[in-house]
Amino acid sequence: MIKEISSCSILRGEVTPPGDKSISHRAAILNSIAEGKSRIVNFSPGADCASTLACLQAVGASIKQIHSTPLTIEVHGAGRKGLCEAGDVLDAGNSATTMRLLTGLLAGQPFLSVITGDSSLRSRPMGRIILPLRLMGAKIWGRGRDTLAPLAIKGQELHGLNYSLPVASAQIKSAMLIAGLFAPQGKTTVYEPSKSRDHTERLLQAMGVTLAVDDTCVILTPPRAPPQSVDVLIPGDLSSAAYWLVLGAIHPDAKIKIKDTGINPTRTGIIDVLLKMGANLKIENQRSAGNEPFADLTIESSELSGIEIGGDLIPRLIDEIPVLAVAACVARGVTTIKDAAELRVKETDRIGRLAKELSKLGATIEELPDGMVIHGGAKLHGAKCSSHHDHRLAMAFGIAGAIAGGKTLIEEAEVAEISYPAFWQHMELLKTS
Ligand code: S3P
Repeated sequence: MIKEISSCSILRGEVTPPGDKSISHRAAILNSIAEGKSRIVNFSPGADCASTLACLQAVGASIKQIHSTPLTIEVHGAGRKGLCEAGDVLDAGNSATTMRLLTGLLAGQPFLSVITGDSSLRSRPMGRIILPLRLMGAKIWGRGRDTLAPLAIKGQELHGLNYSLPVASAQIKSAMLIAGLFAPQGKTTVYEPSKSRDHTERLLQAMGVTLAVDDTCVILTPPRAPPQSVDVLIPGDLSSAAYWLVLGAIHPDAKIKIKDTGINPTRTGIIDVLLKMGANLKIENQRSAGNEPFADLTIESSELSGIEIGGDLIPRLIDEIPVLAVAACVARGVTTIKDAAELRVKETDRIGRLAKELSKLGATIEELPDGMVIHGGAKLHGAKCSSHHDHRLAMAFGIAGAIAGGKTLIEEAEVAEISYPAFWQHMELLKTS
């Protein structure tokens, strides 16, 4: 689908982002191996989380949808020994979180699994998950000398491990913690160079698993009893809210309220950066459900200035960099993003793609090996650009198109459905309300 976007003079209204994708994956996976029944409300409607549910069902998890709006699912936990071998290859689609977290789970199951994904996922690095899981006793093989999916996993009993991640990664940390549930001998300890999102830790603790969490180190004590099921109310996804935060800030006449959004501090780098850039952003009605914090966010038209982004901030906003790059294009001055080489191994090489596609709209961006230098003050103009089948690029280009002069055409815009199926609809609502 080619989406045509043009600017509008006024943006007003309220929007509720879809349920958080990261928390949805974890709530479904962990409740599937817990003891008891759980209800997960406001589950992400995106294709990535649907891939997780389909894979879990294929290995015998009992999951059914009980409401469509908000998407609510019921999971009958199988306990630690209740899953079974799938009759076919598991398909993680476009979702690295599905593939990596499930590899951690399947490594400890007494059966064979083969997991694959789409062409993007089959080109993403999997050695980073195979290596630590093998050190825990797992038998896993992959294409390209054990670096790429499809992966073949011959599950067996694992043992604990002390491991330092070379790059902060919530997916690898989570896979190891899930594997640690099937590793009765020894503790599983994961050190990270900077703290990544901690949703797995919060959920495991809510399920009664003993975890010691100390900033960049997590220690899981192998539980004697299976985790206990927990009901989860999933907050709105801050990574999806980020598009409206940036649009509201860079549009000349905007006031947008973004409701019921997760503000877990391991995810709020986007808020910190926008505030530093001068955004007129308010955080209101702070509360929590389960052990995840929520709030309503209000953003109004702002005068943004360029900023330096790097270091420990990167894992706290890695998925928001595509839309932050759009903000930086129109901000006053230069924005430098560094320490973000991980962007090159996301759904696409997001550094290369952002520099190339945004320059078609009039941006000036220099690529760095681990980031980019964005020269602000651009007057963006409409052009044809491609999402390269990357959901976050499609939506970031949509935000650029909504403030650019003339028409912007975005190829493969339907890919927004990976994390935010209602994205284009919500944009129209804000334009007309
Ligand atoms: C995610 C972790 C991050 C993030 C991804 C979702 C998760 O990836 O970019 O979109 O849910 O754990 P890494 O673990 O590769 O940093």
